Amino acid sequence: MEFPKTRLRRLRKSHTMRRLCRETTLSIDNLIYPLFVKAGINLKEPISSMKDCFHFSPDTIVTEAKEVFDLGIPAILLFGLPEKKDEKGSQAWSENGPVQQAVKNIKKIVPDLAVVTDICLCGYTSHGHCGLVKDNKIDNDATCELLAKVALSHAQAGADIVAPSDMMDGRVKFIREALEQNGFHDVAIMSYAAKFASAFYGPFRDAADSAPAFGDRKTYQADPANAIQALAEIALDIDEGADIVMVKPALPYLDIIAKAAQRFDCPIAAYNVSGEYMMLNSAADAALIDRDSAVLETLTAIKRAGANIIITYFAKHAVKLLSK
Ligand code: PBG
Repeated sequence: MEFPKTRLRRLRKSHTMRRLCRETTLSIDNLIYPLFVKAGINLKEPISSMKDCFHFSPDTIVTEAKEVFDLGIPAILLFGLPEKKDEKGSQAWSENGPVQQAVKNIKKIVPDLAVVTDICLCGYTSHGHCGLVKDNKIDNDATCELLAKVALSHAQAGADIVAPSDMMDGRVKFIREALEQNGFHDVAIMSYAAKFASAFYGPFRDAADSAPAFGDRKTYQADPANAIQALAEIALDIDEGADIVMVKPALPYLDIIAKAAQRFDCPIAAYNVSGEYMMLNSAADAALIDRDSAVLETLTAIKRAGANIIITYFAKHAVKLLSK
């Protein structure tokens, strides 16, 4: 009688066999949980565009950071909402800005939690662009100098990793130089290296109040159609001194994650962004998909593609699922 020579179903006939043959294992160790810190005191306000996410003030965020650390998540990523915005985004490098205060407070109580800080101007500028605007254009090199000041102020507050998300050319070099010249040899740079001009940042821009007041980000963020250029961006950032490079968003760019993982010898991070988060949540809320299995499938896919580190608003939820 004819029979199939290879029966791959043997490898998945039971939970135990599937476990034994599994190629990708999701781990809490590789998760980063993003948090929003807003100038003020005693705040914990729900963010309407992002389920289960809050604006914390620099005092209340400590309790949240402690909870995250106690869950076993190794790192958080901080985004700031300043009290005032201006043309230059000067609150971004203020010693008393919300992120700087939060980092200091968190490091006092939870010193072993790795604190990553987002380096950008868009949340701090009145026009909402990631760089300085001159004659309706983004002034690349002048922006890089300011970003280096922001990174330095975060390092001085105690950040472990600074993460430039602006997509200016050469900013990693400016930041690396500023850190070295000021003795912050151990502060790592995780660059948003292949950051695409994506529709999936919508909920975040509401949360961070950072939507551009005119135009869009297409002159600085990468074109979604380009893979070769995305890899060139990553190569440049590594050359300029990035320790970890990021692909963002994650799901529409799994091919870029896979190529980057094959090509580069440094940790690859992937950002499962706000729009991906809310797309899944909205479908689950409408009872169209099962939330828990969709979360695990999504994060496993990002890891399988080649990401060593996953930045996700699902981090706390994933811990619960993984400890089941
Ligand atoms: C700011 C920044 C953005 C995100 C992280 N840093 C938005 C943007 O570029 O407009 C998006 C994160 C998310 O959507 O979860 N430069």
